[in-house]
Amino acid sequence: MKINENFLKLKDSYLFATVGAKTAAYKRAHPDREVIRLSIGDVTLPLAPVVIDAMHRAVDDMANRATFKGYAPDQTCYGYDRLLDSILDSYARKGVTLGKGDIFISDGAKSDCGNILDILSADNTVLVPDPVYPVYLDTNIMAGRKILFADANEGNGFLPMPDPNVRADIIYLCSPNNPTGAAYTKEQLKAWVGYALMQDALILYDAAYEYFVTDSSLARSIYQIEGAKNCAIEICSYSKTAGFTGVRCGYTIVPQELTRDGVSLNKLWARRQSTKFNGTSYITQMGAAAVFTEEGERQIGENIAYYRENARIISAGLDSLGIWYTGGKNSPYIWMKCPNGMGSWEFFDELLEKASVVGTPGCGFGKNGEGFFRLTAFNTHENTLEAMQRIAKLLKA
Ligand code: MLT
Repeated sequence: MKINENFLKLKDSYLFATVGAKTAAYKRAHPDREVIRLSIGDVTLPLAPVVIDAMHRAVDDMANRATFKGYAPDQTCYGYDRLLDSILDSYARKGVTLGKGDIFISDGAKSDCGNILDILSADNTVLVPDPVYPVYLDTNIMAGRKILFADANEGNGFLPMPDPNVRADIIYLCSPNNPTGAAYTKEQLKAWVGYALMQDALILYDAAYEYFVTDSSLARSIYQIEGAKNCAIEICSYSKTAGFTGVRCGYTIVPQELTRDGVSLNKLWARRQSTKFNGTSYITQMGAAAVFTEEGERQIGENIAYYRENARIISAGLDSLGIWYTGGKNSPYIWMKCPNGMGSWEFFDELLEKASVVGTPGCGFGKNGEGFFRLTAFNTHENTLEAMQRIAKLLKA
């Protein structure tokens, strides 16, 4: 028996596990200090009432022989009609027409970001932005793929554009971006779609944060760009949109027109899912189906507005300190430059030790993240204000 030696090429621990361990050690050493976490992007507001009502009704269905549900009706996409229809409606409002057969229900974007690689050859060359959500990189290291980086930096506003001299087969894009909060305009995405089509490459587009977009020039879905159905898979989540980080539900769009060498990627993914997955619970799906109803969108809109206000508080605090950052407007993430030329972990330690505020070191997302730091808007207004006051006091001192 041989292990998968690619795992030995990974960093020892997943970024958020390291941040969590450092925070726990600090709390043990200083039990009296109140720590404010603006690190992992985990939601803090309860589920919207429409979601809770729908889940309660679904629990009652499960208590009744006539309405009880076992496995999901379709053993490939695993979606109940009510949920699939609501997703189609949400896309229609963005001007995108999909078919039910394009949608696959999952337990969240992170799993599908990794799992989708099952249907793609290990020989493919992968292009990931740097800095990047660690999942894209680590899952490809595990599979032993060749990885190239698209440099994101202060110069390009952390929005790298395609380089025609670089040849890639699989391209990862996330907009609004994790970790930088920067978001592509439709025009910019058009260039990426053109590049992918020209190279016969596949874009894996992570749209987990699209409900934070308010600016209409920015893309909400890659399928708003002509030609994208022939070169892109879109991975979406209810986690940040509707507070489902602890509930777990997402959806992945593999358009039926997406083929390579005459093979349908939709069919391959259906085959993969029916073999290795057994669906998302009925109760969860009914809760998710309430999210994109008219009342659901109104209620989740209130929660997103709450987080957006936190992002505004953080951005305003950084503005007044004269600190450069991206994000914070169409995203729950704010990507700031560390003050006084500090390194990312150096600033992390300083902020934790002297202000009891936890963020995420930018270098944990890639070499171009060195000297940067990510803050999230997922906390209370009170804690966010308090954190910014502590940061201001520390930096002024
Ligand atoms: C983050 O903080 O980057 C996210 O919460 C991670 C995730 O969604 O898996």
